[in-house]
Amino acid sequence: MSHPDFPVRSAPVTRHRVHPDIDEVMIDKVVETFYEKIRNDAQLGPIFNSRIEGRWPEHLTKMKDFWSSLMLTTGRYKGRPMQVHMQMGEVKPEDFTRWLELFRANAHEVCAQDIADLFISRAEKVATSFQLCMFYKDRIAAGDAFKSGEITGN
Ligand code: HEM
Repeated sequence: MSHPDFPVRSAPVTRHRVHPDIDEVMIDKVVETFYEKIRNDAQLGPIFNSRIEGRWPEHLTKMKDFWSSLMLTTGRYKGRPMQVHMQMGEVKPEDFTRWLELFRANAHEVCAQDIADLFISRAEKVATSFQLCMFYKDRIAAGDAFKSGEITGN
C-alpha cells in the first residue's frame, strides 16, 4: 500500500550520456557505415549475409537500439545478445579480431577521436564477454552454471 508522503522514487530517473555530442544521428551513421563494411568484407560478409539475408533493415534497426542503449542509456534494446552469438558455431576468434578491426576503422572515420574511443572501448568489452562465453565457457569455473542455465550471459 502506498503512502502519499512516501514517494516511490525520490528523484527523477537520470539518463546518462557517455558524451554530450553523441546523439541518435551519430549512432545511425556509425551503425549504417559499419555494417556496410561488414557486408562487403571477404571474411565476415558471408557469415552475416547468410544469417541475416532478407532481414538487414530489421538487423540495422536492432543494432541502432543496442548502441542507443549503450551510449545514451535509452533502454531501447531488449534482446539477449550473448545467447544469439553462442548459437553461431561457425564464428571463430579471428572473426572477432576482424570485427574489431572494422569497427575501430569505421569509428575513427565517422566520429571525432574521443567519441570514437568511447564506442571502441564499449565494443571491445562486449566482444570480450561474447568470446569468453563462446570459446572458453567450458574452461572456467562457472562452466556448470552455464550448462544448467543458471548463468545466461545477459
Ligand atoms: C565476429 C563477431 C560477430 C559476428 C560474426 C556477429 C554476427 C551477428 C549476426 C549474424 C547477428 C544476427 C543474428 C540474427 O538475427 O539471426 C548478430 C546480432 C547481434 N550482434 Fe553480433 N556478431 C559479432 C560480434 C558482435 C559484437 C562485438 C557486438 C557488440 C558490440 C554484437 C552485437 C550484436 C547484437 C546486439 C545483435 C542483436 C542480437 C539480437 O537481439 O537479436 N555482435 N550478430
